[in-house]
Amino acid sequence: MQSDDLKNLVEAALPAIAAAGAAALEELRVSLLGKNGSITALLKSLGGMEPEARKAAGAEINRIKAQITDALSARRAVLDSQALERQLAGERIDVTQPPRPDLAGAMHPLSRTQEELAAIFATMGFSIAEGPDIESDWNNFSALNIPAHHPARAMMDTFYLQAPEHARPPVLRTHTSPVQIRTMLNWAKTEGLGATPAPIRIIVPGRTFRADHDATHSPMFHQCEGLVIGEGITLGHLKGCLIDFLRAYFGVPELPVRFRASYFPFTEPSMEVDIGWSRKTGEIGGGTDWLEILGSGMIHANVLANCGIDPRRFQGFAFGVGLERITMLKHGIADLRLFYESDVRWLRHYGASPLTPASLHEGI
Ligand code: PHE
Repeated sequence: MQSDDLKNLVEAALPAIAAAGAAALEELRVSLLGKNGSITALLKSLGGMEPEARKAAGAEINRIKAQITDALSARRAVLDSQALERQLAGERIDVTQPPRPDLAGAMHPLSRTQEELAAIFATMGFSIAEGPDIESDWNNFSALNIPAHHPARAMMDTFYLQAPEHARPPVLRTHTSPVQIRTMLNWAKTEGLGATPAPIRIIVPGRTFRADHDATHSPMFHQCEGLVIGEGITLGHLKGCLIDFLRAYFGVPELPVRFRASYFPFTEPSMEVDIGWSRKTGEIGGGTDWLEILGSGMIHANVLANCGIDPRRFQGFAFGVGLERITMLKHGIADLRLFYESDVRWLRHYGASPLTPASLHEGI
C-alpha cells in the first residue's frame, strides 16, 4: 500500500466522522476498524511484507489507526452530550410559571382559625401543645377535679372504649383540658423544680368528642385550650389575655367583653366569657346583646396538687374555646354540619388561601 492511499483514506474518513450522526458513526467504525474494516485489512497485510517495509508501514498504519480511533470517540462524545441536552430540554420544568388558579386548593376554615389563634397567642409568648384523642379517665376527668359519679361527667357524656375488667375505660377526650394535666405533670417534674422556673404558656388546639348531634353540636368538634402557670398569676392576667385575644381575633378593637361567674370543677373562680353583638344583624361588637363564647377560670388548687405543683407557690389560669363556634361567628356560617361535609363549593367559598399566612401585622 502506498502512503498516498493511506493519506486518502484518512482524508476521506476524518470529515465523514466529524459530520456523522449516531448510526452513521457506528457504520464508519465498523467499516474502518471492524473485523473486515479497511484499517484492519491494512494491518493484516503487514504479514506479507519484507521486515524493513513492514516496520515503516506498521508504524504508519498504527498512527492512522490511533488518529481515527480518537476522531471516532471525540464525535461520540459530542453526540452523547447533544442527546443529553435534548433530553434535559424536553424534561425541563419552569418553576417560575404562576400556579393555575383553577387548580388552587383552599385551607379549611377551621385550620385557618387554628393558625390565627397560633399567631395571636404567639405574640403573647404562648407555644402550642398537643395530646392524644384517646385519653385516660384520670387525665380527662379525675385529675381535673371531676371524680367518678360527679354530676359534671354527665355534662360531657362521651364515648368510652373497652377496658379490662375493673379498670376505668379510656375515653375519646371530651375537651382539650387533659392536655393541661399532661403539661403540668411534665413541668412539675422538670422546670417546676428549678429556683426560677419559666412559666407555662401554652395553647392546645385539637379534636374533641361528645355524644351530641344537631345543627349546633357534632360528636366530633374542635377546641382550643389555653393554660398559664407561674408565680403571681392573677385574674387580671386572665382578663387581659382573653380581652386582647377576642379583640384581635374578631378584628374589633373596642369589642365589649363580659366575664360572668360560672362553674367548672377544675377552675375556681370560674367565668363564662361573653362578647357584645347584635342578635338581629349578627354584627360582632354592635348591638346590645351578649353572646357566650368561652369558659375560663383560675386553676383549682386541687388540680395543681394533682399534678405535683404547690398551689401556695404557683397560680394560673385556663380557658377553653370552641373553634367551630368562633369560626361560624366570624364568617357568618349558619350550620355546623357544613364543616364536615367536604363540599368543594363550600370549601372554595369559606376556605382561606394557603399562600397567605395568618399574621397580626395587618390584623388577623
Ligand atoms: N373544658 C371546658 C369545656 O370544655 C372549658 C374550659 C377550659 C373551662 C378551661 C375553663 C377552663 O367546657
